[in-house]
Amino acid sequence: MPNSGSNETARRIEAPPANGVGVRPLAYADLPLVISIERRSFPSPWSVGMFALEMSKPDTIALAAVDEVRVAGYLVLSRFDRAWHLMNIAVAPEQRRRGIASLLIEAAFERIDRDEPVTLEVRPTNRSAIELYSGLGFRSFGLRKGYYPDNGEDALIMWKGDPATAGVPV
Ligand SMILES: CC(C)(COP(=O)(O)OP(=O)(O)OC[C@H]1O[C@@H](n2cnc3c(N)ncnc32)[C@H](O)[C@@H]1OP(=O)(O)O)[C@@H](O)C(=O)NCCC(=O)NCCS
Repeated sequence: MPNSGSNETARRIEAPPANGVGVRPLAYADLPLVISIERRSFPSPWSVGMFALEMSKPDTIALAAVDEVRVAGYLVLSRFDRAWHLMNIAVAPEQRRRGIASLLIEAAFERIDRDEPVTLEVRPTNRSAIELYSGLGFRSFGLRKGYYPDNGEDALIMWKGDPATAGVPV
């Protein structure tokens, strides 16, 4: 299911609002606000170019969570071969713990086939993200050594669904 939706109607709210927040396709016009959240969320934030590249791919789902007109969070999910990869997710610091990341992930899951596995990498020190993913059905499947270039930290690999269906030995 492809499609970032970036070429869909940008301002259309697609999911019913939850706590005043709706989900719609991420638009290129959102990127200045996205970058401001990105810089407050990660030690090595994505650039505008990295978002634009991912959003341009046919097998990418890019979503924005919007509180009235402001972007409160976003997600980028891309398909590589037989698995979907959660490439990026962040919520504005002042909007966290309101269910917005959960809303974004559930909205992305609605756009892919139920049987398709989803994987991600997360810093083992990022307890809030690990709690979020575990609560949504992701399970740990080992470490990717020295994955993060900024500090050499390993990545915890998580999967939702069966990695074997994506050809990954378990
Ligand atoms: C991780 C992140 C996306 C979570 O966004 P969020 O909108 O606050 O998450 P939700 O409100 O949907 O939380 C869902 C569940 O995740 C867990 N969780 C979220 N934040 C948590 C925290 N600070 N401490 C412990 N558990 C937490 C809880 O189980 C929570 O459910 P609960 O509130 O009912 O207890 C957000 O903290 C963020 O943007 N962090 C910086 C970027 C980042 O680390 N992204 C992930 C990279 S792998």
